[in-house]
Amino acid sequence: MKNPNRFRLCINGEWVDSVSGATFPSDNPAKPRQILGVFQKGNREDIAKAVEAAQAAFENWRETPAPKRGAILLKAAQLLRDNKERLAREMTMEMGKVLNEARGDVQEAIDITEYMAGEGRRLFGSTTPSELKKKFCMTVRLPVGVCGIITPWNFPIAIPAWKIMAALICGNTVVFKPSSDTPLCAVRLVETLVTAGIPRGVLNMVTGTGEDAGMSLVRHKEVRAVSFTGHRDTGAAILKDAGLKRVGLELGGKNGIIVMDDADLQLALDGVIWGAFGTTGQRCTATSRVLVHEKIRSKFERILINRMRKLKLGDGLEPSTDVGPLINKAAQEKSARYVEIGECEGAKLCVGGKVPEREGFFFEPTLFTGCSVEMRIAQEEIFGPVLSLISVKDFDEAIDVMNSVEYGLSSAIYTRDVQNAFEAMNRIEAGLTYVNSSTIGSEVHLPFGGVKHTGVGTREGGIEGINEFSEIKTVYVDYSGKLQRAQIDIE
Ligand code: UN1
Repeated sequence: MKNPNRFRLCINGEWVDSVSGATFPSDNPAKPRQILGVFQKGNREDIAKAVEAAQAAFENWRETPAPKRGAILLKAAQLLRDNKERLAREMTMEMGKVLNEARGDVQEAIDITEYMAGEGRRLFGSTTPSELKKKFCMTVRLPVGVCGIITPWNFPIAIPAWKIMAALICGNTVVFKPSSDTPLCAVRLVETLVTAGIPRGVLNMVTGTGEDAGMSLVRHKEVRAVSFTGHRDTGAAILKDAGLKRVGLELGGKNGIIVMDDADLQLALDGVIWGAFGTTGQRCTATSRVLVHEKIRSKFERILINRMRKLKLGDGLEPSTDVGPLINKAAQEKSARYVEIGECEGAKLCVGGKVPEREGFFFEPTLFTGCSVEMRIAQEEIFGPVLSLISVKDFDEAIDVMNSVEYGLSSAIYTRDVQNAFEAMNRIEAGLTYVNSSTIGSEVHLPFGGVKHTGVGTREGGIEGINEFSEIKTVYVDYSGKLQRAQIDIE
C-alpha cells in the first residue's frame, strides 16, 4: 500500500506536528485494511499550546462585530456546500454511514452554519421596565472565553459544527478535540473554517485520545466551558474533572417508538426501520425499543421481520446498501455481547444477531421480541442495529415503559388519536417527542437535547443553542441623576 497522507494539528493558524511526534491511523470500517490517513496523537502539551493560542486570540475575536463573525460563517457554509459530495464520500469511507446519510450529515452542518451565521445579526438580549423611574434594565450576551469542544464520530461533521458554530458566533475561541475514529472529517471541517477566514488562534484542533488530549482539555484551568457529546460514562468523568466551568453534555438514549392499535402500520414500520437501522443504529436518537400495542403485535412483528430480512448490508458507497458497518471492532463486539445478554435474559432472537462472514465491522440487523421492561437489552444503550420489541396492553402502560429507562433523549408515537398524541407530548420524559414520525431526524433551528441521564439540561441548535456558549449580563442604567434604592424608593 502507498504511504497514507499525514495530517497535522491546527494550533494558532498553523498546521503542526504533535510535541511527542506520536501518530495514529484512521481506517475504513467497511474495509479495515484501507488506511485513510495518519493523524497526530496530541497530548497535554499540545492542548496547553492550543489553549494558549485560543486565549491570545480571544480579545480580538470578541471585539469583532458579531455580524462580521457571521459573514465568515456564511462563507464556510458556502464552502461546505461546494464540497458536499467530496466530504460525504470521505465520511462514508471513514465512518461507514451510507452515502445518502453522509450527505445528510454535511447538509446538517451547512444548515447549522447558516443558522448560526444569522445569529450574528440577532444574539438577542432583552429589555424590561424597571420598578423605578428613569431607570433602564436590559440583558446583553457576552462570550464565555475559551471553549473546549469534544465530539463523537457518529455525526463527524454535523455535531462538531453544531458546537463550533454556536461557540464562534458568540465570540468565543475554541479548542476542538474530535473523536479518534473520525479525524479526517474533523480536519476537513477545520480546513473549511480556516479557508473561510477564521483568524488564527480562534479555532484550534488537537487530535488524540480522550484519556489524554480530551481530559487535559477538560481539566485545563483557562478553559471556561466544555461541550461534549458521547458516552454516558465519559460524560460523568468529564463532569467530575471539569472543576468550576460550564459543562454541556449530550449522552445518548434508549429511545422508544410507541405503536398504538390505531396507528397507520406501514407508516410506523417505515419509522421503526429508519430509526433503528439508519446509521446502523449508531445515533443517540436511534430507535432501540418498539412498544407495540398487544392487539396489533403479531401482525406488526410479522411484517417487521419480513422487512428486516430484506435489508442489505454493505459498503456505504454502494448504491444498493441499506445498512453500513459499525464504526470499529469494539462496537461489533458490543452488539454481539448484547445479543448474548438478550438470549440469556430469555428474549426471543427473531432476526440477525450475528457478525456476518465478510470483511469489515458489520453486524446483522437484529430483532428481539418478547422483551420485558427490566431486561438489559431494553434498558441499556447498545449503539448498534439491535432492536427490542415490548408488547404493551394500553396507552398508560406504553408511557410507563417508555419512561422506565434512565435516559431521556428521543421518543415517538404512532397513533391517529389526537388525545393520545398530546398526552404523549405531555407525559413522555424526553427532550424530543415525535408524533407519526421516527425518533431520528431533528432539524437545526430547533433545540436538541435530553432529560435524565441524557445530559445536564443543555440544548444545542435553535435559539437555545447559543445559551451554552454565552454569558448573560444584566445591565441597569439609572438616568434620574439621584440615588434611587431598589425595593425601598418605590412609592
Ligand atoms: C446524534 O445521534 O447524536 O435527529 C445526533 C437526528 C440527527 C442528529 C443525531 N439530526 O437523528
